[in-house]
Amino acid sequence: MTYLMGLDISTTGAKALIINEAGAVIAVANSPQPISQPKPLWSEQNPSDWWQGISASIRRALAESGLSGEDISAIGLTGQMHGLVLLDENGEVLRPSILWNDQRTGAQCEYMTARIGAGRLIELTGNPAVTGFTAPKILWVRDNEPEVYARAKQALLPKDYIRYKLTDAYATDLAGAAGTSLLNVAERAWSAEVLDVLEIPAEWLPPVHEGTQVTSTVSAAGAAATGLKAGTPVVGGGGDQAAGAVGMGCVSPEKIGVTVGTSGVVFAPLASYAYEREGRLHAFCHAVPGAWHFMGVMLSAAGSLQWYKDSFAPDIDFDSLLAEAATAPAGSDGLFFLPYLTGERTPHPDPLARGAFIGMTTRHERGHMTRAVLEGVAFGLKDSFTLIAQAGLPDEYEARISGGGAKSPVWQGIIADVLAAPLVNINTTEGGAFGAAILASVAAGAFDDVASACEAMIQTGDEVAVGADAEVYAERYEIYRSLYPALKATFARL
Ligand code: XUL
Repeated sequence: MTYLMGLDISTTGAKALIINEAGAVIAVANSPQPISQPKPLWSEQNPSDWWQGISASIRRALAESGLSGEDISAIGLTGQMHGLVLLDENGEVLRPSILWNDQRTGAQCEYMTARIGAGRLIELTGNPAVTGFTAPKILWVRDNEPEVYARAKQALLPKDYIRYKLTDAYATDLAGAAGTSLLNVAERAWSAEVLDVLEIPAEWLPPVHEGTQVTSTVSAAGAAATGLKAGTPVVGGGGDQAAGAVGMGCVSPEKIGVTVGTSGVVFAPLASYAYEREGRLHAFCHAVPGAWHFMGVMLSAAGSLQWYKDSFAPDIDFDSLLAEAATAPAGSDGLFFLPYLTGERTPHPDPLARGAFIGMTTRHERGHMTRAVLEGVAFGLKDSFTLIAQAGLPDEYEARISGGGAKSPVWQGIIADVLAAPLVNINTTEGGAFGAAILASVAAGAFDDVASACEAMIQTGDEVAVGADAEVYAERYEIYRSLYPALKATFARL
């Protein structure tokens, strides 16, 4: 039997997963990760927390599985995208990592757009300047912390810092690299033009690899810290969304992924490279070698529900809260929730957008408010789904759903009705870590390619049909669409 390990450095936890070549989960261990918001718009984590967390998770997963490091054939890495880790010449971390949901770089995005040109930037990188992406963070450090910038010698993504600690090599994968604004996404190589115009040293960036390619092997120090065997191959892996899509079997255009994690994502694999001229959808490299994808990202999906529960219903469990929401009617009696709690990306790239409850009356109770949150997130997903449909969906496609928030049948039903698309569940709930382990299985020689690995390891489960509420939601969605434009200027003043 071949055993594979997937490692996921997510915003909430550092997870190690072991699967076998049949796709069965043998063990999983997670170390929760603290996050810090030291100033408005800021979001940071300490890379050393990730390393301690993942080392502990690897040891626990090995212990739980009864396997030893010797038994693991290959390792795949995944994690939160876009984060910036700056290292000095000795490989020491220079400042806390600035994360994907950090919104401090508005001025740097404007600078990038002015220097490169809005159209040219989208043409080269598949995307406009986005506050959460990596390049504007590098520029922010240059503008605000020149003493840190002066000592920087290497810029890594979060999961690639773990690769460095594990294998002593600087390397990244193309799906992750696509989220930096520094990659020529069509050519699958760093963009000399963008680097040149922004005056970011090319030698700060690690070599890029396809998701199934071996980047390096576990070092003696990496082995000592984790219990893995020195010499175990580590593959490129992928950013969490691309690896998660692999874990859902979304590796060809007729399989669309809908993920309800902290962020909410609609993911559409592409047969060949394409980008949206206005840049409202992200166009990135897939973790599948030689493939690309479109993606719409809302920043607070299950994150909205978590905030709502923590703030207003801390004493009730999620199941009871959602059961209460199920008793409110579709459309929440005219109550809307805008899920822009941490600003927004798709379809409103606006770091200053704010969350809101709109339409409150004395008739509304907590069940209405909870339902409005679930519906608001579903409407946000529909924004991305609609853009992807406009860019061209295949005639026949299947939408697959995953993510922590997606475990609730109430929420799944609302999302299917709002999208007016049936949703298919899959057998695994391990997301990106499972996808990363699938990518590793190809390098281990267990499968010829990612598609056959997915075929063998992923099974589909229950289907959520579109119900009668779809009609109500089609009408409500029009109102939802009118709310952001009406409030945009007010949000900016707030
Ligand atoms: C994708 C994105 C998030 C983060 C955190 O573009 O920003 O999915 O990777 O999960």
